[in-house]
Amino acid sequence: MTPKASDFPSEDSDYQSGFGNHFSSEAIAGALPHRQNSPLVCPLGLYAEQISGTSFTAPRKLNHRSWLYRIKPSVTHEPFKPKVPKHDKLVSEFSQVNSSINPTQIRWKPVDIPDEPTDFVDGLYSVCGAGSSFLRHGFAIHMYTANKSMENCAFCNADGDFLIVPQKGRLWITTECGKSQVSPGEVVVLPQGFRFAIDLPDGPSRGYVAEVFGTHFQLPDLGPIGANGLASPRDFLVPKASFEQESRPGYTIIQKFGGELFTAKQDFSPFNVVAWHGNYVPYKVQIYSLGASYREVMHSRKPLAVLTAPTDKPGVALLDFVIFPPRWLVAEHTFRPPYYHRNCMSEFMGLIHGGYEAKADGFLPGGASLHSCMTPHGPDTKTYEATIARGNDAGPHRITDTMAFMFESCLMPRICPWALESPSVDHDYYQCWIGLKSHFINNPNGNSETEP
Ligand SMILES: [Fe+2]
Repeated sequence: MTPKASDFPSEDSDYQSGFGNHFSSEAIAGALPHRQNSPLVCPLGLYAEQISGTSFTAPRKLNHRSWLYRIKPSVTHEPFKPKVPKHDKLVSEFSQVNSSINPTQIRWKPVDIPDEPTDFVDGLYSVCGAGSSFLRHGFAIHMYTANKSMENCAFCNADGDFLIVPQKGRLWITTECGKSQVSPGEVVVLPQGFRFAIDLPDGPSRGYVAEVFGTHFQLPDLGPIGANGLASPRDFLVPKASFEQESRPGYTIIQKFGGELFTAKQDFSPFNVVAWHGNYVPYKVQIYSLGASYREVMHSRKPLAVLTAPTDKPGVALLDFVIFPPRWLVAEHTFRPPYYHRNCMSEFMGLIHGGYEAKADGFLPGGASLHSCMTPHGPDTKTYEATIARGNDAGPHRITDTMAFMFESCLMPRICPWALESPSVDHDYYQCWIGLKSHFINNPNGNSETEP
């Protein structure tokens, strides 16, 4: 089936909105059972099937599950077999066997999009990560470069939740809950276990993916920021039920399970859910729209936390997703770019569009950088010198044409060999700081001689 634009939502009103609420959606009125989840016979002759994103007994505030009412149940498929050809660039348990550690600041130029036909699954590769999907604690950061839609197949990630940040090219995503259109400037979360297919209406496409094991993304707490800070739950959009009922001979489910891919055949589309309800759902959010006015007033420098995947320690994230959007810089007597720092957290950054305020050049849209735990980093020489040259007379300044983001984790990432050996590694990255000279004045009463 060739997808067409009219199949995918184009307006916010084509979705349900909210975060963490219990949604209900019917593609045919009356398809949802009333007052029970699993009646003896479901309306319209559908099968009831639950998908659980947390253990059955998780506390109510943490419990995620949805009920799907479908034409045939997911179990109707042939046995899983290892995918052929093997996909050997996905990692879900980072160890000395498959990855290495390196405290050096690392930057990657944008990876070229392949010429040969490559879909989202084939074009997905791990960059770095820590922990283990088997032990349900950890994360992986992937990137994808692709140029064609998935055909007669769906992907299912048994390891964790995907947070996808498209940088180039829209994603038409079909899920068991319905369809979403995700453009650069938006992000989408596809929770563990949901089957999905990605079409690429714009052809050549590139983006970033954060995967979290054993937890789910939630909205950050607000504390003294107040009730209206950060992302608003109503900015998050959830698809409405839609379904396919045509026979699909040879349809393939590709299951990522422990970082390895397996395939199973079935003769129908997994997107055969006529109605569903629950709070375990795929969702998207437009990051360009988030909190601009709040930021401009309250936080003219710090990044904006959009989503957080927590650990058991209060305030310590397994993985935070934060953005550096266009905004006004207004702080007086303040070094406005991100300051020099070392961090107990590890920071992976990407750039969706434009430039980044701390790097005058070299950090390109579609590129990435990794500053691991306690590795020093900060503005490059050009940015530092230009900032202090403007002095205290610098008036309010609006940063435009930018959208950078960061995946930040308390775990120390191990890096995959193909990422370290990639021709896109910028081996001169360190040079951006080498030119920083001493401005030290040892004698404030007159002698302005400085040491190099
Ligand atoms: Fe940093």
